[in-house]
Amino acid sequence: IKKIGVLTSGGDAPGMNAAVSAVIKAAYAKNIEVYIVRDGYKGLVNNWLEKVDINFSQDIISRGGTAIGSARLPEFKEVEVREKAVANLKNAGIEALVVIGGDGSYMGAQRLTEMGINCIGLPGTIDNDIVSSDYTIGFDTALNTVMESIEKIRDTMQSHNRCAVVEVMGNRCGDLALYAGTVTGAEVISTSEGQLSEEEIVNEVARLSKLGKRSVIIVISEKIYDANELAKKIEAASGYVTRATILGHTQRGGTPTAMDRYLAITSAIYAVDQLVAGKGGLYVGLDGQQLIARDINSTLNIPRKDRTQELTTIRLLNSQFKK
Ligand code: F6P
Repeated sequence: IKKIGVLTSGGDAPGMNAAVSAVIKAAYAKNIEVYIVRDGYKGLVNNWLEKVDINFSQDIISRGGTAIGSARLPEFKEVEVREKAVANLKNAGIEALVVIGGDGSYMGAQRLTEMGINCIGLPGTIDNDIVSSDYTIGFDTALNTVMESIEKIRDTMQSHNRCAVVEVMGNRCGDLALYAGTVTGAEVISTSEGQLSEEEIVNEVARLSKLGKRSVIIVISEKIYDANELAKKIEAASGYVTRATILGHTQRGGTPTAMDRYLAITSAIYAVDQLVAGKGGLYVGLDGQQLIARDINSTLNIPRKDRTQELTTIRLLNSQFKK
């Protein structure tokens, strides 16, 4: 194998640059040329391929976002669109690809492999919603950002005897909400998979208000309530002045944590090894302490880890209060 490409796809995630950097270094060490693809699958289709040398890998390791750009391209499902991508890669002599991205990138990588371009995927998303890996690149950084934000919100809620509704990202996965609510001692946690009704939330806050709790933090996953409407209902029922904060894209940026960089770098090295071994159609993931490469097709039906027990326990512990 003489030339490989690397692209980042879907929502950017802190640590993607560390992964790109490690792909370049690992390839360079094996005398393989590396092409970056600008803006994900969109760049493949538009032929935005650029040969880079080892210098490109030097300064990006600590940077947030993705230095090579990302995009979402739903049209990549269409075979004619993918054919353009394959033609561009073949013209440039690129035989294989490392795809860094979320579950939206899986199918593209699988289909390209079937069309003769071996692809290895790396789990890059803040959502932690990739079933083939215990953790995804970017999750730890986003979690730390959310934790810091909630603690800042707690300071002001505690000062003013208020309640805060904090909406966190995760798409349809509740891990960011569960982990962030756990590490900040949030009194109420409602996640995509463990959703409380608005009534349950309102009643719980009213109960804590009656007991004289000074501040209440409610962590909710995005896409399940209207945070501002929920805040109004809580205020009406509990008497707390209640404010909603939607953390938004602040969660996607920032310097990657050491753990995200480590996962990114080790999985990138592993991915290049797979390509050199002539493999494709695999997604690299963390299984306990071990990196493994799973067949993309076989990962499609794996159910997401059931967090109900953890969520129930944390809810119980965080709702204990005594004046
Ligand atoms: O997948 C990452 C993510 O940040 C999700 O948590 C969120 O639902 C989505 O992307 C937001 O996408 P966009 O940046 O396109 O609004």
